Amino acid sequence: MWQRKTNDLVINTEARSKDFLTPFTMDGVLVDPPLLLAPMAGYSTHAFRQLCRADGACGLVTSELISSRALQYRSSQPATFALFDWTPAEQPLAVQLFGADPQEMAEAARTVAAAGAAIVDINLGCWVPKIARKSQAGAALLQDVGSAAAVVEAVVQAVNIPVTVKIRSGWQSGISTAIPFAQIAEAIGVQAITVHARFADQGLQGTADWSIIRRFKEAIQTIPVIGNGDVANAADVRRMMMDTGCDGVMIGRAALGHPWLFRQIVHELRTGQPLSAPILRERAEIVMRHAQLALQNDRQPLHKTVRELRGQLVPYFHDVPHGAVMQQALVRIESVEDIQRALTFWLAMAE
Ligand SMILES: Cc1cc2nc3c(=O)[nH]c(=O)nc-3n(C[C@H](O)[C@H](O)[C@H](O)COP(=O)(O)O)c2cc1C
Repeated sequence: MWQRKTNDLVINTEARSKDFLTPFTMDGVLVDPPLLLAPMAGYSTHAFRQLCRADGACGLVTSELISSRALQYRSSQPATFALFDWTPAEQPLAVQLFGADPQEMAEAARTVAAAGAAIVDINLGCWVPKIARKSQAGAALLQDVGSAAAVVEAVVQAVNIPVTVKIRSGWQSGISTAIPFAQIAEAIGVQAITVHARFADQGLQGTADWSIIRRFKEAIQTIPVIGNGDVANAADVRRMMMDTGCDGVMIGRAALGHPWLFRQIVHELRTGQPLSAPILRERAEIVMRHAQLALQNDRQPLHKTVRELRGQLVPYFHDVPHGAVMQQALVRIESVEDIQRALTFWLAMAE
C-alpha cells in the first residue's frame, strides 16, 4: 500500500514536471527549458549569462539594457558598444533596448540584429528616473499606450527576428494600463510578453503580485506570457506557473551569485528532489571562471572590467561562512591575481 502511494507520487510529479518544463518557441526561436535569466544592468554581463547557460538549464538570457539614443551619438558609442559583449555560447540571446523614439528604436533594433541578437526585447519596465523620467522611456511609456505601441510597431517592422516586450503591471499602483497595451502589442506582432508583477512606482519594493500575471495570461491569446518577480527556487516556479498559467518564468536577483540556480530548479522539477548548491571549493572555481570570462571582453579597458567585477562577485558570498571577509577583499581587487589570492585566503578560513 505504502509502495503504491509512493509510485503514485512519482507519476504525479513526472506529469507535472512535464508541464513546468515544457519549452515554448517565439517565431522559431526555442526556449528550452522555459526558465529565463532577467536582464540586470551591471550584472547580466556576458560572463554571468554564459555561466547561467552553461548546463542548458536556463533557456534564454537577455543582455543588459542598451540605450537606442546612445547608439545614435558617436560620443556615447564606445561605452554603449561595450555592452555588445555577447558570444555564440549564449545563444539564443535577447538584446534589450530602451528608448521612446520609434525611429531611433527601429534603427537600434536593426543594429543589434545585425550584430547577432536572436531576439530584440523592448524595455517597458524600467522605473529609474534617468530612463523613465528623463528619457520618458522604459515603464514611463506605459502611461500612454499609443506612444508605447508606436515604439513597438516601429521595432517589429524594422527587423525579421522575434521582438518581445518586458513590462510592469502598470505605471501607477492599481492602474493597469499594461494589459490593454499587451493586447495591442500582441496584435502588432510581438512574440512574447514578460510581466514583472509590480507597478513602476513600487520600484523593487514590496511583494510582486502574481495575480496580475494571471490577468495577462487571460487577456493574451496567441503568444507566451512570462512571469517575473520574487521567484527564488523550484517551489516558486511551480507555484507561479500553477497560480498564473504563465508559459515561462524569469528569474533575476535570486540568480545573482547563484548561476547554478537554474540547474537546481530543473533538477527538482524533474525528480522531486532538491539539488545541493556547489560546495565552497566549486563555488570558488565558478567565481574564478566568472572573472576569467569577464576579462575576455576586450570592448572596454581591463581596469574597468575589474572594477565592475568587484560588485558582480559580491553576491557569491552572501550565504557562505566568512562571506564578509571575501566581500571586503573584493572591494579592493585590482587584478585577476588579487581575486585568486582572496579566494585562497577565504577557502582556508571557510572550509
Ligand atoms: C540590479 C538590477 C538591474 C536591473 N536591470 C534591468 C534592466 O536592465 N532591464 C530590465 O528590464 N529590468 C531590469 N531589472 C529588473 C529585473 O529584470 C527583474 O524584473 C526584477 O529584478 C524582478 O525580478 P526578480 O524578483 O527575480 O529579481 C533589474 C533589476 C536589478 C535588481
